[in-house]
Amino acid sequence: MKNKIQPTQKEIVLRDNDFIVSKTDPKGRITYANKIFVEFSGYSQTEILNKQHNLVRHPEMPRAVFDLLWDTLKSGKEFNGYVKNMSKDGSYYWVFANVTPSYDNNNKLIGYYSVRRKPSQEALNVIIPLYNTMIQTEKAAGAKDAITASMAILSDKLVPLGVDYDQFALTL
Ligand SMILES: Cc1cc2nc3c(=O)[nH]c(=O)nc-3n(C[C@H](O)[C@H](O)[C@H](O)COP(=O)(O)O)c2cc1C
Repeated sequence: MKNKIQPTQKEIVLRDNDFIVSKTDPKGRITYANKIFVEFSGYSQTEILNKQHNLVRHPEMPRAVFDLLWDTLKSGKEFNGYVKNMSKDGSYYWVFANVTPSYDNNNKLIGYYSVRRKPSQEALNVIIPLYNTMIQTEKAAGAKDAITASMAILSDKLVPLGVDYDQFALTL
């Protein structure tokens, strides 16, 4: 069983030209991670390969965002969004992620592919308070109703703007 990592307040910031890249099999197990992934995650290649991608999940990420990510990927579309990740030593790093499903010539799903870049401070100024409200709402609602309650917070933000999360994320 994975040891529980204690998150810390230490932030590590991507450089402007960094790309964190990973690939997974159709079950979401990591099959490839580039050097920058290794650097920011703090894990070795051996510790990363074949692990589920929640290896770098930060406890302060709303569940609803991952629900949205998987719904989007399962419907064959690409996902763009902001993710707070956690390194092996508990520090955190924000990324702007693009995640896509990959298909072979017969249109069979062969896995997923993700490229992450440094998010702008302007985007984070909007995303951090939004995610905080979503996390608080998820905690207050309890496990069963967490996603629905959190999605309602997200809708309150997006509906007046007339956009979905993907469009919102891309224009921040
Ligand atoms: C290609 C790909 C990349 C992903 N990248 C991340 C990531 O950087 N951070 C993360 O927390 N989850 C990422 N996920 C989502 C995880 O698989 C998982 O759904 C998420 O960490 C929530 O974990 P949990 O369901 O155990 O709470 C990625 C999934 C895929 C398919």
